[in-house]
Amino acid sequence: MQVQATSSQAESSPQQKVPIHVAIIMDGNGRWAKKRGLPRLEGHRVGVDCIQSLLETLSAKGVQYVTLYAFSTENWNRPEDEVQGILEILYDALRVQTQALHENNVRIVHIGKRGRLSPKLQEAMIYAQELTCGNTGITLNVAFDYGGRDEILEAVRRIIQDRVPVEDVDEELFRSYLFTADSPDPDLIIRTGGELRISNFLLWQSAYSEYYHTPTLWPDLDAQELERVLESFSDRQRRFGRVDPED
Ligand code: FPP
Repeated sequence: MQVQATSSQAESSPQQKVPIHVAIIMDGNGRWAKKRGLPRLEGHRVGVDCIQSLLETLSAKGVQYVTLYAFSTENWNRPEDEVQGILEILYDALRVQTQALHENNVRIVHIGKRGRLSPKLQEAMIYAQELTCGNTGITLNVAFDYGGRDEILEAVRRIIQDRVPVEDVDEELFRSYLFTADSPDPDLIIRTGGELRISNFLLWQSAYSEYYHTPTLWPDLDAQELERVLESFSDRQRRFGRVDPED
């Protein structure tokens, strides 16, 4: 696996604008499994297997940060056996993949609450994060027990705890209190699985993100479709609330 973020953006054409940060709502694992008569957890397992090639494709294009919405603060409300299964899958993925990701210079960052995870999962997450913290390749933010509203409330609580003077609370300071403080805002948010909603994902950070949705179920998203997504991003005019000089 070659997952090295470079500034040369080697495989993209010179004219293509490449997002620095791509965030993904990986939806559709359950339906993918159901269509095949398999248990939902099998869909999640295959969904995790897709992540490696996704990282390879995005990294080769020059993307430097990828955030994956793996488990939301609301996902605890799923049936107990599915929740436990997802926690096991994450643990196995960390156990099996961390070394390979480290060898490929990937920096792994957990975003979300840590305290509700089992001690062994917390340990695996901390180990992955500490092992890879000095890596200079692509950053992989794993949003696990993550909720955008929860993140904002947590930031407010910590700002108050730190007794930050009111006049110092501006956007720059606020973003430094978010779980994603080390990453730029996402340029592009992709949602698979056909739904048209943001589902409590990166609420603060997505203010000016471009959004792309596809009916493709997450395990079916392949490199060709990802290429089309990046082409679509490249064709968009981002004005960040301004008007074009020629308009
Ligand atoms: C949504 O499919 C997908 C999830 C809830 C993600 C599952 C997360 C993991 C397997 C954890 C591992 C993550 C990493 C980054 C190693 P869905 O169940 O909502 O599908 P549906 O809409 O078809 O029901």
